[in-house]
Amino acid sequence: MQPRIIPPCSHTLHYLLGLLLTVLAVTAQAGAHRSGFELPLPPENLSFGEDYVPTVFITGSNRGIGLAFAEYYAGQGWRVIATCRKPDSADALNALAARYPETLTIEQLDVTDFPRVDALARQYAGQPIDLLLHNAGISGGSANQVFGKMDFDVYSKVLQVNVVAPLKISEAFFEHVQMSRDKKIMTVSSSEGSITMAKQPRLYFYRASKAALNMEMKNLALKLKRRGITVGMVNPGMTDTDFMAGLPKSILRPAGDAASDMARNIDGMTVDTTGAFLEADGSPLPW
Ligand SMILES: NC(=O)c1ccc[n+]([C@@H]2O[C@H](COP(=O)([O-])OP(=O)(O)OC[C@H]3O[C@@H](n4cnc5c(N)ncnc54)[C@H](OP(=O)(O)O)[C@@H]3O)[C@@H](O)[C@H]2O)c1
Repeated sequence: MQPRIIPPCSHTLHYLLGLLLTVLAVTAQAGAHRSGFELPLPPENLSFGEDYVPTVFITGSNRGIGLAFAEYYAGQGWRVIATCRKPDSADALNALAARYPETLTIEQLDVTDFPRVDALARQYAGQPIDLLLHNAGISGGSANQVFGKMDFDVYSKVLQVNVVAPLKISEAFFEHVQMSRDKKIMTVSSSEGSITMAKQPRLYFYRASKAALNMEMKNLALKLKRRGITVGMVNPGMTDTDFMAGLPKSILRPAGDAASDMARNIDGMTVDTTGAFLEADGSPLPW
């Protein structure tokens, strides 16, 4: 007589899959441990006096929301490392630096240039960075992401800028963040990256990149929580920048308002709420 095979129910399958993934994760951790790799520990006896000045490192600071962030934090008395691809032609950022000659420094950085990322991390070795702020981002242009005539070279570029670079920069500047007082890694994400909120097809590259970015940063939040580092994602809302060129100004908010709302949300995040994805008004966004 043939043995009867009883199909496992979906709950059992789900449970077994969860168990398998847990075993794989534990094995991977043990593998990392066995290979001798451990993230470096912070210097001992770190102390932050009354006169401590926090530092923010911002990508894409020459225009739009990045420029507004640089202005906001400079105005709050922070030390600002404002990075951009082309400092020589960054007129608005150079004008801002002239207003804050003591505290705002401009550095050249294309976020996809990894040797340059590493060189900057070495240049700032020993400098605490309280807030590593991933702001630079591209949409890829809606005409390039129409199903049936996708431009996949553009897709690769979008992923490189929006997803790969923030992880690379987080890795390169992890020690600077770890030795700071506030210890935050924050990313300007987008509600376009919310799978729950997607109701119409559009912007395949951009949406996929922000969803991937969210998972990447959630993972980093889980990894760095025990080091006291807070990782989070903030949404600016529809903001009047080149990114939204063509849309009526009446439905867009000023970049300064978006930056100050996000800064408030960043300030409110702690290691207890690490991994959060927040709307401009501070409410949680669905994944
Ligand atoms: N505006 C909105 O309504 C909105 C809504 C949701 C999310 N966001 C997000 O907000 C962030 C900022 O967008 P924005 O509205 O300020 O857009 P934006 O005005 O188009 O500015 C984009 C910034 O990213 C920089 N950038 C692009 N590629 C780069 C690279 N390879 N290396 C370094 N910098 C690079 C640009 O520098 P260059 O001048 O050199 O190109 C520019 O400074 C983005 O992550 C975007 O996804 C915006």
